[in-house]
Amino acid sequence: MTLRNRPLETIERTRTETTAVVTGGARGFGKAFGTALADEGATVVLIDVDESAVQKAAADIRASGGSAIGVVGDVADETAMAAIMAEASAVNGGIDVLINNAGLHSDEYSKPIGELGLPKTRRLFEVNVVGVIACTVAAHPHMAHRDGASIVNIASAAAHLGGTAYGTSKLAVAGLTITFARELGADGIRVNAISPGMIFTDTIRAELPDEVKARVKAMQLIDIDGAESDVVEAMLFLTSGRARFITGETLRVTGGMAAGT
Ligand SMILES: NC(=O)c1ccc[n+]([C@@H]2O[C@H](COP(=O)([O-])OP(=O)(O)OC[C@H]3O[C@@H](n4cnc5c(N)ncnc54)[C@H](O)[C@@H]3O)[C@@H](O)[C@H]2O)c1
Repeated sequence: MTLRNRPLETIERTRTETTAVVTGGARGFGKAFGTALADEGATVVLIDVDESAVQKAAADIRASGGSAIGVVGDVADETAMAAIMAEASAVNGGIDVLINNAGLHSDEYSKPIGELGLPKTRRLFEVNVVGVIACTVAAHPHMAHRDGASIVNIASAAAHLGGTAYGTSKLAVAGLTITFARELGADGIRVNAISPGMIFTDTIRAELPDEVKARVKAMQLIDIDGAESDVVEAMLFLTSGRARFITGETLRVTGGMAAGT
């Protein structure tokens, strides 16, 4: 079943007059999140460093009847993020949903920090960690006291397994989820995270070596391939009123690969 064809009764509320900002929105999870939120009626603002791809992603959403804007920007650039969040806020008088999804995650970053080296580790943390901080801080004033305001950070199963530069950056994302849930709760903003396991996005299919795919799959407790829709469903739940009493949590969507860690 495609997301577009989800039965209406599974859609808990329409998101008309809702603005959702999705970082890393040009492809993969980000585009899928944007499409799903637009399907529920939200105006979606996609942010990405890849200008042509983010414009195409927004155009694809509009072509299927959704409302979407593509904006070029680096999540680690706090000045740019402040300006983009202010623009996004102007559409419906605030921001309701922020998905901190942009991240560097090629196989290269799954090395120990000593092997990756400081310049690449610094950039990894700038995007994966400082990017979450910059976007959250920039969006906060536009989300405060909006009914149902919610942030979802995209961490990773690697956060719970340890031993790599990438996993460490994602453990910081899980930590920031608790920190921001504490800081923003008084303003009515819920903050949660999703830790996806191995999900077959185009990037993972093309770039992850076959032996790594096989090794990770063997760690799952159930023998199915993770799909983008598995993570999208978790995001739709966490940003909906059905999750109104949930904040500061990291939900693992991993086929059990990170169970018990
Ligand atoms: N695919 C998986 O199996 C998997 C598993 C666990 C976690 N994740 C996480 O999910 C998120 C999305 O993964 P994906 O597979 O869709 O990735 P992807 O590589 O397909 O897409 C990521 C997008 O982020 C953009 N981006 C990168 N740096 C940016 C920056 N500084 N500012 C703005 N945009 C930037 C890229 O241009 C790209 O369009 C990432 O944070 C990743 O770490 C993915």
